[in-house]
Amino acid sequence: MFTEEEVKSGLTMQVFGHTLSIFDSLDSTNACAKTLANKGADEGTVVIADHQTAGRGRLGRTWQAESGSSLLFSVILRPTFTMDKIGLLPFFAAVGIANVVENITGLQCECKWPNDILLQGKKCCGVLLESTSQQHTLDYAIMGIGLNVNQKIFTGDLADKATSLCCEIGREFDRRDVFCQIMSSLESYYTQVCKGDFDTVLMEWKARATIFGKRITLRQAADSIDGIAVALSVDGGLVVETESCQRVFYAGDVTIAQRQ
Ligand code: BTN
Repeated sequence: MFTEEEVKSGLTMQVFGHTLSIFDSLDSTNACAKTLANKGADEGTVVIADHQTAGRGRLGRTWQAESGSSLLFSVILRPTFTMDKIGLLPFFAAVGIANVVENITGLQCECKWPNDILLQGKKCCGVLLESTSQQHTLDYAIMGIGLNVNQKIFTGDLADKATSLCCEIGREFDRRDVFCQIMSSLESYYTQVCKGDFDTVLMEWKARATIFGKRITLRQAADSIDGIAVALSVDGGLVVETESCQRVFYAGDVTIAQRQ
């Protein structure tokens, strides 16, 4: 794993990564960042680990990554915008990372609702946003990111669903360099959304999305909904036209139906 000095020499931004905690192994960088946030850690504090023993994914799942191959990190955010905008936060992360992945691989990323990044139809990056609020005001949000950089083999369930930058390009990438580029990209998009400009981020996200206008199935724990994905709601939900009505969803797994 790279050292704090090595990373800091490559960072050019003001906020993201100014405080950096690097671990060989942790249960979850999100859990660690949450502990730090509860103790008052500043916005932009980053926790990064080479390995996680209990990495968290969306919908209560785990996040698996081979030790020493990925970027597994969490950023503490303390945005001052209103709670109704919180659901839009993962979109800036997805766009910020997609830009870097596209620059370094030369491939086009797909953004999959709610906040997955795909390369050649397979997931290379997931974003998990966990927020804590008090009396309708956001206290802080932990933005956890898992980017598959140099992992070469995905087994079991992941075999046909997951990929890495290395799998797609056929060579390893310098994780420190990728991380520094991501920090810079995230900070620049975050600065934009903190000024109230979500339009650019949402426009860039939609330009990489493939579901709109298509027949989809959205799966939730006990439910499966068929319909047409028509839009993003103003708060980041997915608007689906079902046979009977329009509904907005905030969680779930989307697949595009084979027959349109
Ligand atoms: C998803 O399910 O797509 C989101 C996965 C997010 C995984 C990352 S890895 C670093 C950070 N720490 C965690 O425990 N989870 C996130």
